[in-house]
Amino acid sequence: MRNSKLSKPNKWENFVMFVSLSKKRSVQILMLVGLLYILLVTTLEIPVVYRNGFNTLSQDRLTRPEKLGSEWDLQERPAPGRPFRRLIYRETESEAPARALVSSELRRTVRIISGLKFEPERFDPSSKDESFELLESAKVAWEVGGKLWEELESGKTSKAFKEDEEKKKRGSSSCPLSVSLSGSDLLARGNLIELPCGLALGSHITVVAKPRAAHSEMDPKITMLKGEDETVNVSQFIMELQGLKAVEGEDPPRILHFNPRLKGDWSGKPVIEQNTCYRMQWSSAQRCEGWRSSDDEETVDGQVKCEKWVGENGISSKEEHNKATWWLSRFIRRSKKVTVEWPFPFTEEKLFVLTLTAGLEGYHVSVDGRHVTSFPFRTGFTLEDATGLTVTGDIDVDSVIAGSLPTSHPSFAPQRYLELSSNWQAPSIHDEEVELFIGILSAGNHFAERMAVRKSWMQHTLIRSSKVVARFFVALHSRKSVNVELKKEAEFFGDIVIVPYMDSYDLVVLKTVAICEYGAYQLAAKYVMKCDDDTFVRIDAVLTEVKKTPMDRSLYIGNINYYHKPLRQGKWAVSYEEWPEEDYPPYANGPGYILSRDISHFIVKEFEQHKLRLFKMEDVSMGMWVEQFNNSVKSVDYVHSFKFCQFGCIENYLTAHYQSPRQMICLWDKLVMTGKPHCCNLR
Ligand SMILES: *[C@@H]1O[C@H](CO)[C@@H](O)[C@H](O)[C@H]1NC(C)=O
Ligand SMILES: *[C@@H]1O[C@H](CO)[C@@H](O)[C@H](O)[C@H]1NC(C)=O
Repeated sequence: MRNSKLSKPNKWENFVMFVSLSKKRSVQILMLVGLLYILLVTTLEIPVVYRNGFNTLSQDRLTRPEKLGSEWDLQERPAPGRPFRRLIYRETESEAPARALVSSELRRTVRIISGLKFEPERFDPSSKDESFELLESAKVAWEVGGKLWEELESGKTSKAFKEDEEKKKRGSSSCPLSVSLSGSDLLARGNLIELPCGLALGSHITVVAKPRAAHSEMDPKITMLKGEDETVNVSQFIMELQGLKAVEGEDPPRILHFNPRLKGDWSGKPVIEQNTCYRMQWSSAQRCEGWRSSDDEETVDGQVKCEKWVGENGISSKEEHNKATWWLSRFIRRSKKVTVEWPFPFTEEKLFVLTLTAGLEGYHVSVDGRHVTSFPFRTGFTLEDATGLTVTGDIDVDSVIAGSLPTSHPSFAPQRYLELSSNWQAPSIHDEEVELFIGILSAGNHFAERMAVRKSWMQHTLIRSSKVVARFFVALHSRKSVNVELKKEAEFFGDIVIVPYMDSYDLVVLKTVAICEYGAYQLAAKYVMKCDDDTFVRIDAVLTEVKKTPMDRSLYIGNINYYHKPLRQGKWAVSYEEWPEEDYPPYANGPGYILSRDISHFIVKEFEQHKLRLFKMEDVSMGMWVEQFNNSVKSVDYVHSFKFCQFGCIENYLTAHYQSPRQMICLWDKLVMTGKPHCCNLR
């Protein structure tokens, strides 16, 4: 007993001493780290390098560097809606990026052009098969692309581009604080008002307009007819924030789609529908139908998503009840708060003043000074992306005024402020055999998408150790400035393969062949995978899946469609000339599938001998080629897994698709932190 009593304070003293010692030590360590930091910064001038150095110091565990990468990321992530502030900041900071570029050029000579041989002159236009038209346009695209590439190589384009930039800089009106258009001017410009540098926090757009009286429609899209020859009265208008700087050949993303339906829709009452559309895919709609969002629902900057309004006749039955209780409670206790009730904010032929404000968490809409709806930001769009506003439908616009716009750099061209951190550069390839090659379809101006892939699943140890190699496949853009930036990006990161043809939606299939060529011939990889730049790939899980089939078998694995029929109508119609057969062959969905090397070899060989039938849908083309291989060379194991998700993400996914840059980072963070594949259904 005594002993223990005596020893207690001793222990305590020991502890105190230990604490003060370790305090001292940690101060020393801190000082040391500080000194090291100053040393690094002053000798190398780039804070980025410190970040890199830190990572290489702690490369002891497999997932360690990636985890650190994402943690740093979290720390550095600026306020929502302005993720590129960091880039702007870095750009103004000395000449560091330019130097880093040069040294990396010296260090590694990267081959950035695809080795695929097309030889347009050898192409024989007399062969009249189904792929004739496609081959014809491929020939033209390849010739134009060849010229573009030559100019790019000789530096001609870059010079012209620089002069262009200089000119732009001199005229400083490129990012005005406010823009305004009268109704007639808006009409003359195709109902579009351009916001040259997008929006910033606190930007606001005011629309003064008058909804038109309802007109009868025979074929209303938003509601159903009661009888055969019936018509229905419709009055609706659409206000959309769009990202105009997106990819050519695709509709611009609709960042905010705001659609009041004054005479109601299928629900039978007036509605305001809001949504986003990214890469031509609509998200789930947020409908405001007249009642206030419940209290336990998510708010946007403290505002509810939907405000309440009362029905056409002023008071609905529920209101009637409320009124009765209100009178009653007023009679009993005189303290009841009086609430004013408003009708639907838009009335036919009545002028309204609508103001759209960009908040921290979303967009807020108020009409005639009263808050009506709030819409949280969705799918990785930043405020700067919203570069245009359209107003269409049954509406006469009086004027549109946008104010408090950003006056700084347009950061939707983030290529200009390349994140020249060597963290994201592709590692050099070793002599060991490459297990899996992943070709990622991308487009010239998909910089943000590529950056998200680089910072997420391309940080996997299997890629950092070059057991798995991933490359972006990009064709040339009609805008030369995009190509100049692309070449710079390719040279710096070493992970881009340029397929030298003029990019077009129908010729994606050429990139697929180039992926096979790179994987099977340049790298001699055992397997070749194709995905998109909005696909998230769980590399280790995919590899495990692939290895379930013995090495000596020919393999085609993905989310396989059997007996799909071509769409013969609508926007994406396939004509009988293009596809005469009834069914498509079995084919794996485009966002993620894998082939064994022998099939890739076969495809490239056939292509270069001009024997490959081409079809504008690259995934169907692949199904066709694999079928041909199966029938003429060796039988193929078709392996189907629904975990190669075509639409979005499911738990335990192998690949997830339609992931925005922000979702990519989120998926990766979840994978690294929990070790489990959880989806990120951000809005
Ligand atoms: C449509 O409006 C007209 C006149 O405004 C009215 O006579 C007609 O009954 C309405 N039709 C429907 C289906 O509500
Ligand atoms: C592949 O070839 C085998 C015969 O070798 C055949 O039975 C099978 O149906 C073929 N599969 C496809 C999808 O064409």
